[in-house]
Amino acid sequence: MARITAGVGSSHVPAIGAALDLGKTAEPYWKRVFDGFEFSKKWIAEEKPDVVILVFNDHATAFSLELIPTFAIGAAAEFKPADEGWGPRPVPVVKGHPELASHIIQSVILDEFDLTIVNKMDVDHGLTVPMSLMFGQPEAWPCPVIPLAVNVVQYPPPTGNRCYNLGKAIRKAVESFDKDLKVMIFGTGGMSHQLQGPRAGLINSEFDNAFLDGLVQDPESLAKIPHLDYMREAGSEGIELVMWLIMRGALDDEVEQLHRFYTVPASNTAVGHIILKNKAA
Ligand code: DHB
Ligand code: FE
Repeated sequence: MARITAGVGSSHVPAIGAALDLGKTAEPYWKRVFDGFEFSKKWIAEEKPDVVILVFNDHATAFSLELIPTFAIGAAAEFKPADEGWGPRPVPVVKGHPELASHIIQSVILDEFDLTIVNKMDVDHGLTVPMSLMFGQPEAWPCPVIPLAVNVVQYPPPTGNRCYNLGKAIRKAVESFDKDLKVMIFGTGGMSHQLQGPRAGLINSEFDNAFLDGLVQDPESLAKIPHLDYMREAGSEGIELVMWLIMRGALDDEVEQLHRFYTVPASNTAVGHIILKNKAA
């Protein structure tokens, strides 16, 4: 049987990818950010997941205002790094896991979550930056990835509660896949940030840290946070945090926090990172 062993939360700031790709990781501004992932890179290299389900958002790259799926799951054999205006990042092509993805699609849709099935999609910084932070700069990514894209770009995004419950449905799906696979789930984006308007540059460390606390101790309360609270407290792009609730919903009610990191700023945001392990795993 496949099982979900751990969840990872991570910001996906595009400038982090640029810092890596341009060899700036030793600069003090960036070293502070990358140091927070040193534990994580060693940990995941030892844990060796067989598959990662990576929850992210597409930033009008593969999709546009012409087509806005609320939840879109990638069932392709591979996903190319997207050209976001400066050429694709020099990172490996992401290999998918069509067999597990198809199983999740069947289980989750029949569980009444209407996923969009994606058989071709280029993946932007929302997916590639967390991959780089966790796996470094290998020739090939060490495991297949199932991308799950969530609309947090165009109102209305899904509620935190819907995301949390989708996580639970994904867990049920994984646990009914009859191959022994060690699966991890990443929730990406966040933390507080606002990229435009009079409040551009907003960062709310108190909200972010309370969110990280809640992920460990009280995810049910986090799932009740309404959109307006994210907007007010965490800025317009802080809504990306609902994606972390898909990750959390896929884990046990009680989890162990293996690692936590928070730093301000990286580009316009706070960088948050957490690793949660299922106790039985
Ligand atoms: C920034 C952060 C994001 O999450 C994003 O998608 C784009 C830009 C930033 O802080 O610059
Ligand atoms: Fe983003």
